[in-house]
Amino acid sequence: MKKIAVVGKVNIDTFIHVEKLEYGRNHLSKRVYTDVGGKGANTAAALAKLGFEAVLLASVGSDSSGKSALKRLEKLGVDTSLVNFSSSHTGRTFVVVDNQGQNTMFHALGANKDLLAENVNWIFLENSSIVFVQFGIPIETAREVVVMAKRNGKTVFVDPGGLESEVPFDILPFIDIIAPNESELFALSGKDTVEKGAKSLISRGIETVLVKQGKKGASLYTAKSSFHFNAYNVNVVDTTGAGDAFNGAFIAAMILKMDPYDALKLAVASASLAVQKKGTSSSSPVREELMGFLKERGEDALLKLLIM
Ligand code: RIB
Repeated sequence: MKKIAVVGKVNIDTFIHVEKLEYGRNHLSKRVYTDVGGKGANTAAALAKLGFEAVLLASVGSDSSGKSALKRLEKLGVDTSLVNFSSSHTGRTFVVVDNQGQNTMFHALGANKDLLAENVNWIFLENSSIVFVQFGIPIETAREVVVMAKRNGKTVFVDPGGLESEVPFDILPFIDIIAPNESELFALSGKDTVEKGAKSLISRGIETVLVKQGKKGASLYTAKSSFHFNAYNVNVVDTTGAGDAFNGAFIAAMILKMDPYDALKLAVASASLAVQKKGTSSSSPVREELMGFLKERGEDALLKLLIM
């Protein structure tokens, strides 16, 4: 089976649970814990936990956090052999989760900023069929990876989360699939509805737009069709990382050659499982959990497609 290259951030996420977040107030937290996070790490972990070979291209500090993050990712099955070590500290994100499971994040990018094109090990281009890139890494690196991957015949999947620069319109025609949430879609497209936003990105050359809509589920748009799935009704504990579980499951479905309709449904199911758990790379489901969930929800046809 061909590998999937995942180019993105690695962080140590520190979670602080509060009743309600209010600016300028003191808050008591009943739960504080850490997890390995970052969209790159989480997406690679989501894929590995579903049984796919994910190679992570990222940058961590040469500190104890960087080493323990990689150890944890390796334990989850991620290939970390191409991760770069930098002299900056490992990226850190502080995540405040309220009693609705909604999050507010504070980022210290650290080593993620050092993922420059010259630090990317390009061997992945030969060994992978799908390349996942997140825009939260330095945008010049994202640009080079997206363009090179597309020119080398790879399927390019982008999560625009974490974009800090102007919208890189020149890269859009090199992207096969983009997966923003609603606010990212509006920022990228300058439009104020999901349909207008998705159509605008398609008119700029992107083939498929997947819109993550939280509690409302997700939608898929191409030039010829569009469809939507509601999220499953579940008990939400923490939504952080659910979009990364979604990315991983959608990519897994592509490798299994599922049609886009089934792939979207599988991705929504995976995100619905992730929101029921705390943490980020820890919250995406392993294959057996996803299969159990599909069985429980009567999704027998989809379940069959997941059996390789
Ligand atoms: O998508 C969730 C991730 O975003 C977290 O793990 C955090 O590190 C931020 O990068």
